[in-house]
Amino acid sequence: MQPADELSTHTDPCTPTSSTGVSSEGTGYFTSNNLTELPTPFYPPSLLEEDIKVKSEPSVARQIPSCLGFPELPQDKVSSEINPSDVATPDAWVPRDGRMVRLTGKHPFNAEAKLKDLYTQGFITPSSLFFVRNHGAVPIVDQHLANNWKLKVHGLCSKPVTFTLDDLRRKFRVVTIPVTLVCAGNRRKEQNMVQKSLGFSWGAAGLSTALFTGVYLADVLEYVLPLRGARHVVFEGCDDLPNGPYGTSQLLSWARDKRKGMMLAWAMNGLPLEPDHGFPLRLVVPGQIGGRSVKWLSRIELSEHESQHHLHFRDNKVLPMPVGPDQARAESHWWYDPRYIIRDLNVNSAIASPDHDEILDLSAQGADGTYPVKGYAYAGGGRRVTRVEVSTDDGDSWSLADITYPEDRFRATAYSDSVYGDLDMTESDTCFCWCFWTLEIPIQTIRTTRAIVVRCMDESLALQPRNMYWNATGMMNNWWFRVCVHKLS
Ligand code: MTE
Repeated sequence: MQPADELSTHTDPCTPTSSTGVSSEGTGYFTSNNLTELPTPFYPPSLLEEDIKVKSEPSVARQIPSCLGFPELPQDKVSSEINPSDVATPDAWVPRDGRMVRLTGKHPFNAEAKLKDLYTQGFITPSSLFFVRNHGAVPIVDQHLANNWKLKVHGLCSKPVTFTLDDLRRKFRVVTIPVTLVCAGNRRKEQNMVQKSLGFSWGAAGLSTALFTGVYLADVLEYVLPLRGARHVVFEGCDDLPNGPYGTSQLLSWARDKRKGMMLAWAMNGLPLEPDHGFPLRLVVPGQIGGRSVKWLSRIELSEHESQHHLHFRDNKVLPMPVGPDQARAESHWWYDPRYIIRDLNVNSAIASPDHDEILDLSAQGADGTYPVKGYAYAGGGRRVTRVEVSTDDGDSWSLADITYPEDRFRATAYSDSVYGDLDMTESDTCFCWCFWTLEIPIQTIRTTRAIVVRCMDESLALQPRNMYWNATGMMNNWWFRVCVHKLS
């Protein structure tokens, strides 16, 4: 193997600086220094007001680069506070938004927004409300360490290299892409209500969308020149977990395909990644489950073999339905069967309005009026949702909802050159984000129905199933989504 490129000679990124999260030389995360390091402007200005609620949402306004003409960046009071629940934990330095719903009541931090809060934010989720799935403590990385972050790329390649973030910025085309990340456990609560799975309960807000800025993984792989025999690309984070660092892998053929959109990202919604989301560098894998988007990324290896990381095998699997949690715990071979791995997301949708337990006051509504039922939908592997159907008679009949894809406006703004890099996304049918749907239902129907049900289909004609596919990990739950209708009158 040839020696690594001498691009960088800095400290080990995985060595914590201090227990407070701020080194003596470093400035920490949330100082104004960060703003001087913002990437060059990349938001299509016409999209700002429509897609990002700048004025009504202080935590989002904080994320708008000042170079776009917003003179004052309001102090984000919410996300600069340490939550009392974190005080006695290793994350006692990580600012978190009090609106996030903590899913386990213990460390590590795993949280989602309330579905209504998430939905009303619109297409782009503010970082403070972006769902969090951590398997352990957040690695302590201050600004100094981030500036010297080393990403080692090695293994079966002719030109192993260690990159700093500056190296990545300088050597490769910088792109910004909206991507929806979805936890494989999204909607697991419904499975746990049927039979407790191995995982904790997520509602239907285990997904979020951000503008990620970074470089295409495909460009980096071309640079290091993969050798014959390399079939997998293994990614490793630097979190210190009981069974070793978090890691997983991709097929090399997928990772090299720019249309799959895999990125090494350092910014989210115009600011450096938040600690919970992988500061200073993460992998972003559009269209696949969130578990493939490795945070705090420190190592990439080209290999003949898939990742051997503990959680690559022991997580993110849909085991066959007859295998219960006890059997899965006792018999390890289930986890090592390659047939049960999850890569692409499956097709899914949810109703955000009316919400579960919301009580509708229809008294002021005339008999001829309608009630707007609303929600989100997504599909995996870059596929598009082609229809959303809503039923008020438990699936005997269906009505077609209107779908909007805000992602299309990003393409249409002709930002393809500067935003998407040399891949012309305006011509691409690849979908990396969620879409929204609405259906006006007659008030008379709302008055009499007990429940509203939604399902969707994607362009491969995959349809959400009527029945739940219960499985030991409680993952990929995508049966019809139901909301009971509660009325005042
Ligand atoms: N990367 C590392 N290093 N450690 C982790 O615990 N969790 C994974 C993935 N990447 C994880 C990780 C899982 S299961 C998910 S769903 C996503 O990160 C969540 O990303 P987010 O917390 O930024 O929303």
